[in-house]
Amino acid sequence: MSGKIATRNLGGDAKDVSVGAIGFGLLSFTWVAPERKLSDEQAFPLLLEAIEQGATYWNSGTFYGSDDPWANVKLLGRFFEKYPEHIDKVTIGIKGGFNPTNNLSNSESTEENFRRELKELKALLKNKPVDIYGPARRDTRVPIEESTAILAKLCKEGLFRHIGLSEVSAASIRAAAKVHPIATVEVEYSPFSMDMENNGVLQACKENDIAILGYSPLSRGFFSGELRKRSDIPQGDIRLMLDRFSEENFDSNVQLTDKVVELAKSISVTPTQLTLAWELHRYEKLIPIPGTTKKANLLLNVKSGSLSVPSEVLAKFDQIADELNAKVTGSRYNQHLNSSLEQ
Ligand SMILES: NC(=O)c1ccc[n+]([C@@H]2O[C@H](COP(=O)([O-])OP(=O)(O)OC[C@H]3O[C@@H](n4cnc5c(N)ncnc54)[C@H](OP(=O)(O)O)[C@@H]3O)[C@@H](O)[C@H]2O)c1
Repeated sequence: MSGKIATRNLGGDAKDVSVGAIGFGLLSFTWVAPERKLSDEQAFPLLLEAIEQGATYWNSGTFYGSDDPWANVKLLGRFFEKYPEHIDKVTIGIKGGFNPTNNLSNSESTEENFRRELKELKALLKNKPVDIYGPARRDTRVPIEESTAILAKLCKEGLFRHIGLSEVSAASIRAAAKVHPIATVEVEYSPFSMDMENNGVLQACKENDIAILGYSPLSRGFFSGELRKRSDIPQGDIRLMLDRFSEENFDSNVQLTDKVVELAKSISVTPTQLTLAWELHRYEKLIPIPGTTKKANLLLNVKSGSLSVPSEVLAKFDQIADELNAKVTGSRYNQHLNSSLEQ
């Protein structure tokens, strides 16, 4: 795979798959209030630019849509139909596994449910293979060994290429990796969300040569340096439902990010760039997957994949991150959504 930025390899049986060190999260293309959804005319140039810059791992989901849960996958299907020459240049990771008749807190890791979803993915993506697939959340009613064995069977049938997990505990990662190699694990990671370093998830991924997809790497915009007022967040935006963005917590959390803004200024980069470069330095198989709907921001983000940040600045950031991680107020989600996270 070619591109302008540094590359990193995925893990497990995808260890030969090389992608840009900065990936691309596509959630905000479609999982927003209907009037903010990107049209193909807005989305396709961004996707083409990502390929041009080498940001070749794209993150999607079978539920990334406000009015139509499949909107994100459908957009990818239309993109690869229009640009078949790019099919082999991009690695797509698609998570799902929710029961369609239930809501997002109901993960259903049965063969029937995975098979239904993979059949739908094939119909929508046509000639673009599903590179990475797996459940977005653990179905705790099914032992992880069992759900991994089902995924391994469907993978062997050629319905997708590699298994990817999301929001799983260290124990689940270790148990799953004994059944079948795991290519990626999606973990929320930013200076506000460093749990993986203390709960064994990072260690379990290292032991099993698994790549970590650092999701919400800018803490959903907190580390953009631009989001200063809660009132700047548009109505209908999912963030308004999250604890860290509540009336009570928002202002103090924004103020915490000032130290990152200052440190970035000292080396003439943006806070997003320094934050992403810092994340890359914490684990050699970590690929941050920032989301953006703007070309200028995409270009800034991918550039952090090739930034050379002085070691003393990274060391300073290490200290700041520890402080921020300890001081941030509010949980990563909210009481309702936290219940779907494996502890
Ligand atoms: N596995 C999971 O459970 C899970 C959960 C959540 C998300 N994810 C994945 O992670 C991806 C990224 O997460 P996210 O979108 O929640 O959060 P994020 O990437 O941390 O932040 C996105 C926000 O930052 C802004 N932004 C991005 N680049 C910027 C820049 N250079 N300068 C200023 N602002 C910038 C974006 O606004 P603009 O659009 O204006 O640039 C957007 O508001 C998602 O797309 C999704 O694929 C996975």
